[in-house]
Amino acid sequence: MQTEYARRREQLLAKIGKGTAVFRSAPMAVMHHDVEYNFRQESDFFYLTGFNEPNAVAVLTNQHAEHRFVLFVQPKDLEKETWTGYRVGVEAAKEKFGADEVYPINELEEKLTQYLILADRIYYHLGRDRPFNTLILDQWQSLMATYPKRGTGPIALEDPAPTLHPLRLRKSAAELDRMRQAIAISVEAHNHAREFARPGRYEYEVQAEMEHLFRLRGGMGPAYPSIVASGANACVLHYTENTRQMQNQDLLLIDAGCSYDYYNGDITRTFPVDGKFTPEQKAIYEIVLAAQLQAIAQVHPGKPYGQIHDAAVRVLVEGLLDLKLLTGDIEEIIKEEKYKPFYMHRTGHWLGLDVHDVGVYQQGEQPQNLAPGQVLTVEPGIYISPYIKPVEGQPEVDPRWHGIGIRIEDDVLVTAHGHEVLTEGVPKSVEEMER
Ligand code: GLY
Ligand code: MN
Ligand code: MN
Repeated sequence: MQTEYARRREQLLAKIGKGTAVFRSAPMAVMHHDVEYNFRQESDFFYLTGFNEPNAVAVLTNQHAEHRFVLFVQPKDLEKETWTGYRVGVEAAKEKFGADEVYPINELEEKLTQYLILADRIYYHLGRDRPFNTLILDQWQSLMATYPKRGTGPIALEDPAPTLHPLRLRKSAAELDRMRQAIAISVEAHNHAREFARPGRYEYEVQAEMEHLFRLRGGMGPAYPSIVASGANACVLHYTENTRQMQNQDLLLIDAGCSYDYYNGDITRTFPVDGKFTPEQKAIYEIVLAAQLQAIAQVHPGKPYGQIHDAAVRVLVEGLLDLKLLTGDIEEIIKEEKYKPFYMHRTGHWLGLDVHDVGVYQQGEQPQNLAPGQVLTVEPGIYISPYIKPVEGQPEVDPRWHGIGIRIEDDVLVTAHGHEVLTEGVPKSVEEMER
């Protein structure tokens, strides 16, 4: 794996030319007084280093005679390590992570300048860590103060996103291995959940069964807060309370995925808790499934990303028109987004180290075209909240539809000649959702 991190750094170094890139590790996040969340490394930092500690900085540059990859890390400190865990330390980091030079983090201010002074720009993402932003800006300011004397130095600050994130968008074989593992565990958990859920059980019991498997199979845990939403709870997109007792005639919407070695699964299925769709539930389910299949069919190298959403919306609107939940001209409904009370989110996102992974969906006026190695989710839905307010001119919704919320989400890899549905191990046909 070290060669893969090295290869990524070389790719970035080739793109940044005379610039110097500075990456900050994730901070420790406070849960409540004296207690911190589990540490999770910042994804750009991890992608380039594999280094898994807080309070670290990585520098990449072509503008230093010997040092192209430099790490600043927490030094060994046996007393502190007794409390907060082992640290790699300065000596071992050089060896283990392939850095040309490693310094203790408290020397950052003093040692960073030598890597910026000959750069023509600083690649740095202004993040939420204000003191750290200030440190970088102060360095930039003092280098610009002495710029006239040298006639060289970083005259621009540039976010690394457009340079780095296209690399992250296309997954390597090693990344796909991890994604397949994250997805295999997620698939198993979804299949178990469908067997386990039944009227009388609580949403949190289903959540517990799934998250138990996430850890049992060696995953890091949930990739995001698990959504286990029965009945009308499914109409709240990010419902995560998971406290309700499931009833006969409920649908259960489960949106949950496992994180494995930093990569993530993201799967949604919706099924009847008592094993049988009501006619209304079935009618909506069939529309969402048709929309999802039509959207997945768009995933092909060279096709614009936006076509996935457009295809899903068209099928959803056709279905809602058939059921008379919408009325009027299909083109106008789509153009004016009159379907939005039923479908208010986009049809998916990139998937990778981050669940909503980096990378753009549109290149300004130009479309972002799909390319092999990209992984994305396809997740259309229809949500008929009891509080739904159709747009002006559209019919009121008959209460028999109220409380139906359905989403179907798969993870799809763009291949050389089409696509592969990585999550196909979880069934989704009407017949397979019933029992
Ligand atoms: N669960 C987050 C998402 O599906 O995007
Ligand atoms: Mn999801
Ligand atoms: Mn998703």
